[in-house]
Amino acid sequence: MVLMASLLRFGIIGCGEIAAQTCQGISSAPNTAIAMLMDTRPEVLSDLAEFYHVPTTTDVDALLANPEVDAVYIATPHYLHAPLGIKAAEAGKHVLVEKPIATTLADADALIAACEKHNVKLGVAFYAQVDAAMAAARDLVRAGVLGKITFVRLSSLSRKPDTYWHGGYTGRVYTDWRTRKAQAGGGVLIMNVIHDLNTVRWVTGLEVVRVYSEMDTLATPVEVEDTIGVVMRYDNGAIGVVQAGSAMPGGAHQDAPGPRIYGTKGQLILASKPLIYLTEPLEGGVPNTWQELRFSGPIADRQQIVSRFAAAVLEGKEPPVTGYDGRKALEIVLAAYRSGESKQPVDLPLRA
Ligand SMILES: NC(=O)c1ccc[n+]([C@@H]2O[C@H](COP(=O)([O-])OP(=O)(O)OC[C@H]3O[C@@H](n4cnc5c(N)ncnc54)[C@H](O)[C@@H]3O)[C@@H](O)[C@H]2O)c1
Repeated sequence: MVLMASLLRFGIIGCGEIAAQTCQGISSAPNTAIAMLMDTRPEVLSDLAEFYHVPTTTDVDALLANPEVDAVYIATPHYLHAPLGIKAAEAGKHVLVEKPIATTLADADALIAACEKHNVKLGVAFYAQVDAAMAAARDLVRAGVLGKITFVRLSSLSRKPDTYWHGGYTGRVYTDWRTRKAQAGGGVLIMNVIHDLNTVRWVTGLEVVRVYSEMDTLATPVEVEDTIGVVMRYDNGAIGVVQAGSAMPGGAHQDAPGPRIYGTKGQLILASKPLIYLTEPLEGGVPNTWQELRFSGPIADRQQIVSRFAAAVLEGKEPPVTGYDGRKALEIVLAAYRSGESKQPVDLPLRA
């Protein structure tokens, strides 16, 4: 379905912590608008409705029946992403879903299939694909400036406050879904590291072919992992590691944030301002020194996520982050969980 319009009007499904930020992005982007807000809890709707002057409902069917809703943005607990997305696709609405696309590959596949069947676009709210810095990094990596990629390191070490588990970082919604395996799908890996898994995949084009992981819940009264180490093998032979935890006093200290990609000719740190170190520098560069990567264009934020999705829908093109991208990042996460549970290496692609 191609819309003959310059504005994509979103119905918001799930108006908790991140949706409040995404609403700011939707209202400030030139090509998006908020048409309706929906949440099963009426108490989280009133302040947003008052601020944005839009109708609200606690009934998802009412939102999906609203002809002024062109697309939905889904920001609910993880296990609801796929069923709600499928319902929206069946109602002819384009779907922008928060990460992770789903908690199982079967659900991810069903959502992708429903969007294809009903001819609506499906996007996932990752940042890398709408970030000019990551695009510049991607261009360099794909041009071979790092040489052969040999190693990848992903790190997410933080101490989430006790209040996070029942109210996120803002306390906007009191809930316990983040603590529940069946509702969240997992802990720090599916919640946080999944962004970096997507980033590395998009920047390098490498696919993970095997993982081995050790994981546990060592310091938090929750069902999901708070500590995990994953070793990965990529399809070009490179090795990767993930070190992640949500109960780490002192966090990562002075470690530069962002995934690191090591090649035979250099290293790239995929931070918001990426850093690059090259043994054979680009024009005018000094060998064997760290430099900030030059790039032009916007860095990713909530506005970029919604406006780039909207531009694709309005032009009848593929969204910058596709359902397939969402599925591939989820697949690595699920393989790591399967390995952690079975204490065996797990090969990818996974059988759903
Ligand atoms: N892209 C990012 O950087 C980013 C950051 C934070 C959160 N997220 C993702 O956003 C999603 C939501 O996270 P959050 O932190 O906002 O959680 P939250 O708990 O603050 O909000 C979730 C909301 O969904 C509502 N909800 C529950 N069941 C519903 C249903 N059946 N229909 C409609 N609404 C329903 C809840 O009432 C709540 O208001 C998660 O997928 C999370 O991983 C993404």
